[in-house]
Amino acid sequence: MLLDDFMTEQIGLFGDQPAATLTPETWEQIPTSASIPIPAGTYQDLDQLAQHCNQCQRCGLASGRINVVISRGNPNAAIMIIGEGPGQQEDEQGLPFVGKSGQLLDKILASVRLDTKNDVYICNVVKCRPPNNRTPTAKEAAACVPYLKEQVRLVDPKIILLTGGTALKGLLGETRGITKVRGQWMEWEGRHCMPIFHPAYLLRNPSREKGKPKWLMWQDIQAIRKKLDESVE
Ligand code: URA
Repeated sequence: MLLDDFMTEQIGLFGDQPAATLTPETWEQIPTSASIPIPAGTYQDLDQLAQHCNQCQRCGLASGRINVVISRGNPNAAIMIIGEGPGQQEDEQGLPFVGKSGQLLDKILASVRLDTKNDVYICNVVKCRPPNNRTPTAKEAAACVPYLKEQVRLVDPKIILLTGGTALKGLLGETRGITKVRGQWMEWEGRHCMPIFHPAYLLRNPSREKGKPKWLMWQDIQAIRKKLDESVE
């Protein structure tokens, strides 16, 4: 089959067909190029999405990965937490936020009685580790964001926490810096979203003094707890 015909066939798989008609055979053919769209409604469930992510070649990050890092936590949680991308430990274990940043994130959540197994679903903008933990490029983020949007649709969280600038820009397209907008509620597709500092930034800024990043995070996580309590009442 000529490459053009192959591409047309693949694009066609996403074109007019409703997701329900995708078969296991067709899922396997798809995520070979970022030019193949992944519209809302492509996946019936998170397992289908994971099958695609695990074979994904939509950007150059695929070539350096050990594991595709999709999520941890509860797929029915009311809170979704979005990070930037996997680091070394995440790549090795195939789970997001399991390194030092993740340990701090777990502690922050525990401080307001949220636990990572039950109360949150954690994922990233890009699902493969960028070399040397660099920030993902705009192209890499754009290739991966359709998966993230499908995760949001399928998990259907009430609250989304965007940790750091990459998550903020990746999902909301917001280009203002994180220090400007952290702690502010924003609405996106009917969901409450709050940009918060990335835990790695807090590790580099350990002071708990009033007005410093850790103190600000404490304010933010309390506001998030309050919003959760209000929205599940
Ligand atoms: N930092 C992130 O943004 N995500 C991870 O999964 C780990 C570290």
